[in-house]
Amino acid sequence: MAPTVKSTAALLFATLASPASAAQYEQYILAPSSRTLHPVSVYQVNGSVTNAASLTGDAVGSGVFQDVSAVTYDFGKIGDVDADQYIGISFTESSLWISSEGCDATADAGIDEALWFQVDGPGTLTPDRKHERGAFRYLNVYHNTTGSIEVQQITVEFTPMPHWSDNSLRDYTGWFHSNDELINRIWYAGAYTNQLCTIDPNYGSAIVHLGEINSTQGGPKFGPDTWYSNTTISNGSSCLVDGAKRDRLVWAGDMAFAVPAVTVATYDLISIANALDSLFGLQNKTSGQLPYAGVGLFDVYSATYHLYSLIGIADYYLYSGDLSYLRNKWSQWKLGLTFSLSFIDDSGMMNVTSPSDWLRFGMGGHNIEANSIFYYTINQGISLGRALGEDSTLLDSWAKSAADIKTSANRLLWDESAGLYRDNETTTLHPQDGNSWAVVSGVADTEEKMTSISAGLAARWGPYGAPAVEAADAVSPFISGFELQMHLLAGNASAALDLMRLQWGFMLNDPRMTNSTFIEGYSSDGRLHYAPYTNDPRISHAHGWATGPTSTLTFFFSGIKLLSAGGQKWEISPVLGDLRNVDAGFSTNLGLFSSQLTAAEDGSVGSLVFTTPPGSTGSVKLPGVSGSLTSTNGTSVSLVGGMARNLTGGTWTLQRNSVVPAQGGAAAKGLLSPALAFVAAALAFLL
Ligand SMILES: *[C@@H]1O[C@H](CO)[C@@H](O)[C@H](O)[C@H]1NC(C)=O
Ligand SMILES: *[C@@H]1O[C@H](CO)[C@@H](O)[C@H](O)[C@H]1NC(C)=O
Ligand SMILES: *[C@@H]1O[C@H](CO)[C@@H](O)[C@H](O)[C@H]1NC(C)=O
Ligand SMILES: *[C@@H]1O[C@H](CO)[C@@H](O)[C@H](O)[C@H]1NC(C)=O
Ligand SMILES: *[C@@H]1O[C@H](CO)[C@@H](O)[C@H](O)[C@H]1NC(C)=O
Ligand SMILES: *[C@@H]1O[C@H](CO)[C@@H](O)[C@H](O)[C@H]1NC(C)=O
Ligand SMILES: *[C@@H]1O[C@H](CO)[C@@H](O)[C@H](O)[C@H]1NC(C)=O
Ligand SMILES: *[C@@H]1O[C@H](CO)[C@@H](O)[C@H](O)[C@H]1NC(C)=O
Ligand SMILES: *[C@@H]1O[C@H](CO)[C@@H](O)[C@H](O)[C@H]1NC(C)=O
Ligand SMILES: *[C@@H]1O[C@H](CO)[C@@H](O)[C@H](O)[C@H]1NC(C)=O
Ligand SMILES: *[C@@H]1O[C@H](CO)[C@@H](O)[C@H](O)[C@H]1NC(C)=O
Ligand SMILES: *[C@@H]1O[C@H](CO)[C@@H](O)[C@H](O)[C@H]1NC(C)=O
Repeated sequence: MAPTVKSTAALLFATLASPASAAQYEQYILAPSSRTLHPVSVYQVNGSVTNAASLTGDAVGSGVFQDVSAVTYDFGKIGDVDADQYIGISFTESSLWISSEGCDATADAGIDEALWFQVDGPGTLTPDRKHERGAFRYLNVYHNTTGSIEVQQITVEFTPMPHWSDNSLRDYTGWFHSNDELINRIWYAGAYTNQLCTIDPNYGSAIVHLGEINSTQGGPKFGPDTWYSNTTISNGSSCLVDGAKRDRLVWAGDMAFAVPAVTVATYDLISIANALDSLFGLQNKTSGQLPYAGVGLFDVYSATYHLYSLIGIADYYLYSGDLSYLRNKWSQWKLGLTFSLSFIDDSGMMNVTSPSDWLRFGMGGHNIEANSIFYYTINQGISLGRALGEDSTLLDSWAKSAADIKTSANRLLWDESAGLYRDNETTTLHPQDGNSWAVVSGVADTEEKMTSISAGLAARWGPYGAPAVEAADAVSPFISGFELQMHLLAGNASAALDLMRLQWGFMLNDPRMTNSTFIEGYSSDGRLHYAPYTNDPRISHAHGWATGPTSTLTFFFSGIKLLSAGGQKWEISPVLGDLRNVDAGFSTNLGLFSSQLTAAEDGSVGSLVFTTPPGSTGSVKLPGVSGSLTSTNGTSVSLVGGMARNLTGGTWTLQRNSVVPAQGGAAAKGLLSPALAFVAAALAFLL
């Protein structure tokens, strides 16, 4: 289990004496060094509170709450008091929802109730475990009675990553560093967001009023909503969920980015496997249909989330190299794919008959996003089938279906005049999701189309990011993750960096955000309003689906691409965009992958050193670069047309023929402040 994985990784770094390691950039890691946390600062004091600040830090203090009063802290536990007083606490992720009445929200209307304690004498007050909040930045402490109460200490227990030992939360197996501080913070905030989304599976689901409280049946006139999280959502002792506050459920779509981000940061495979197992446990064994979400939600069919569950298995196999896990799931996988294949009609494409997707509108018919995801999934299935020695007649029939989807999508859905794909045949809407996915999946069949999509979507960016026109006025950090990859595949690495800085920079730096995690969605004018929801405080501020940059930076910029299980076959194809240097790496069960590169004056790769595991094989792609690669044992291989093939695992260094390296490399590390303060932000609550 995880502790073994981690000690193996630590050993690996030690024995290889690699020049780089996760520990080198520890100052960027947002996870705490211990599970016991105390408030960092006082945000606001209302009424008469003496010495509110004495409750920050880990010393015992004395904050006296006189009459009706309140303090907003970062987080807490409540200590000694007089008799017959009431004290309450509540939590919010965004400062926008700090309230004298309660928490931010988990239901479709209103806010969530505060937790109140009647105090009869000195002691310690502790909420029950099902009132674990999952994520908050602000903790409010209320006193609503006349008289006074003295609070001595506030303590929060950090509950995410329950299967990792208390002082190992910062033991990352991966790292990323470049000359761009914002980009570095984005990588680490993505890693931290997924740690918060890794929960004890016995405390899932905070959506207790789903379908019961809505904009017409809830809200202030009904009073604050009750809330609690006590649904068991998977087996095992940890599980990867969509969001830390809500839904605290397994959603396969969200895993599309959470899984690769976990892989390159913490390599916490068991939490992924537990989540996937819970989805496959809900598969209809007759039809093959997989659920929209895991245990805790009513069952609904979603054409796309069904496919994301299948992609989840393919990803797990790719990153873990665990063939027996794949073999155990294979009959269920084939049944699931056969179910999707049954929706292909005489157009050659899937006809989507269920509107459920990532909460966009208009999901139906021959939809470009769904058919692109389908095309991608079938191709994943063909590689999985080959790894398992599956009957080639079956795999050939899958390949035929995939080819038909691609041909039909390009014939029926490409809009030449717009230079973008239409959502379906009967609309002029050109969606962000389908256009991004068409490129990511390989449905887009010419470079011209890819370039045109890249330019077309970039031209739509507003001051807060890329709009998802298929979801009213939403900015979707989920779909924009696919847009990042689309720009890279279309050859515009700078566009991917620009979008990260614009959109993820906003998500980190705006004062209404947490400065440590990524939000589920917001509106194109920067309001904390996400079109699919009627209730703004409901939005989750720590959502795994918003962590696309973390894996995208590692796979595309440091250029480490795993091509077969565990990385037995790899490709090193870095790009810099406008970055001057990149140093990144991660480990799989096979060993360490790392690459360090700096830019030449023209922005091409000027220097490169990379390491791949012994016994693995791969190739290097450096378009436009001439020179050779030298292994640590002296073997030298020339680049031919910017490529070197059939390299064996080891450490290789690029020698470029005449190039002027730009400033960067080791010098840039000096830009780092050696003691970046750890700012505790979104925190889980328990005690
Ligand atoms: C403190 O007062 C401000 C201004 O009235 C209010 O917005 C805020 O919700 C109050 N905070 C608490 C924790 O009661
Ligand atoms: C304080 O809050 C508690 C819990 O909601 C409530 O029972 C009590 O009546 C309140 N007291 C006052 C004076 O509002
Ligand atoms: C709101 O919830 C009630 C049940 O609590 C239900 O009868 C009603 O149809 C719901 N309204 C909407 C708009 O979903
Ligand atoms: C979860 O908590 C609610 C509210 O206290 C309770 O009614 C329910 O029985 C609990 N469910 C489980 C599975 O413990
Ligand atoms: C746990 O595993 C058992 C046996 O496979 C299965 O029946 C059950 O549904 C699983 N529970 C969850 C919550 O996935
Ligand atoms: C499973 O699928 C079959 C065949 O489509 C259907 O008849 C059955 O109702 C489904 N079972 C459940 C539990 O939904
Ligand atoms: C086609 O796309 C438009 C725009 O998204 C949508 O309004 C319409 O419902 C879609 N058609 C079908 C059959 O889903
Ligand atoms: C998709 O299937 C539905 C339900 O069978 C049907 O009404 C609709 O016409 C089909 N759409 C297309 C584009 O063929
Ligand atoms: C790449 O995208 C940027 C927007 O970030 C744009 O300004 C630039 O023109 C694009 N470059 C190319 C070669 O298309
Ligand atoms: C945000 O967090 C970073 C560390 O990740 C810190 O350097 C910075 O000061 C914080 N910004 C604010 C406004 O708190
Ligand atoms: C060398 O690499 C090429 C392309 O990656 C591959 O087709 C070929 O089989 C490899 N040859 C050997 C001997 O591994
Ligand atoms: C040197 O390293 C290369 C690449 O790792 C490998 O193919 C070769 O067999 C090694 N040669 C010796 C003598 O170890």
